[in-house]
Amino acid sequence: MADAAPAGLPVVGPSSAPDDVLRVEHVAKSFGPITALRDINLHLRKGEVLGLLGDNGAGKSTLIKILCGFHRPSSGTMWLKGEPYTPKSVDEARARGIDTVFQDLALVDELSVYHNLFLRRERVLKPIPFLNNVLMRREARKALEETGINIPRLDVPVARLSGGQRQAIAVARTVSGDADVILLDEPLAAMGAKEGALILDLIARLKAEGEVSIIMILHNYVHVFQACDRVSLIQEGVIALDKATAETSIEELNDIVVEEYRRARQAARAEEAAAAAQAGDNGA
Ligand SMILES: Nc1ncnc2c1ncn2[C@@H]1O[C@H](COP(=O)(O)OP(=O)(O)OP(=O)(O)O)[C@@H](O)[C@H]1O
Ligand SMILES: [Mg+2]
Repeated sequence: MADAAPAGLPVVGPSSAPDDVLRVEHVAKSFGPITALRDINLHLRKGEVLGLLGDNGAGKSTLIKILCGFHRPSSGTMWLKGEPYTPKSVDEARARGIDTVFQDLALVDELSVYHNLFLRRERVLKPIPFLNNVLMRREARKALEETGINIPRLDVPVARLSGGQRQAIAVARTVSGDADVILLDEPLAAMGAKEGALILDLIARLKAEGEVSIIMILHNYVHVFQACDRVSLIQEGVIALDKATAETSIEELNDIVVEEYRRARQAARAEEAAAAAQAGDNGA
């Protein structure tokens, strides 16, 4: 098991490069008594695809929500393209060039496919600002064709689509925008193998163009090794591993997770034993 930091030890921040688009230093986040993130150090280079890994509840979505302006960090600093970055809202983050597909998707069920694709950046006619539905429908068709995913009717409400189709729309909306940084929270979760492969192709195409930088949360290691240049693993509120995918392996990532389960089981047993001893003392 390589550079995974043992629990409880201070974690050294990942090396950063001059072409970092995004840099996160010592970011922590608590929700009342719950500490979701303890000390996150992270960087993202231009054109890079970073896979963010971690167990359920590790804090991956929380980190994405901090990066995209939805949550404020409890402490720590962030830098975007060399400038201090303290977004107060998702809109502000978007205006600075960071766009997000959330785990819970954020599509508007009652709106059509193409209206969802243009949510918050609706095309309007001039001089009277009616929605330019013809243009939006045409551009929506083009954006979806680029993903390769088949959504036959663009004028039906998205409530009538499958989970995978909804996810495809959310991803297509984001990648067809002009963001510098794209955050994807489990973009393949609801997708079948074929749709997932199309989204991975789309990400490979963006990577080849080298203009946008991507952070995506994935659970399937095969996808990680297929799509990502680098992986960062969150454990116990810190980045416990940060490596180029070429320098790690499915076995190494598995070992780390197995070790985490072993520690968690041990801690649970110790807690039980302490509680039993306490009960014994009280009974004596
Ligand atoms: N708004 C919130 N209020 C209170 N606690 C929260 C909130 N959001 C997240 N948490 C807590 O923070 C921790 C991290 O949650 P988060 O959703 O970031 O995990 P995750 O790594 O994305 O997990 P999953 O893989 O299941 O999506 C959890 O203990 C969760 O209960
Ligand atoms: Mg999550």
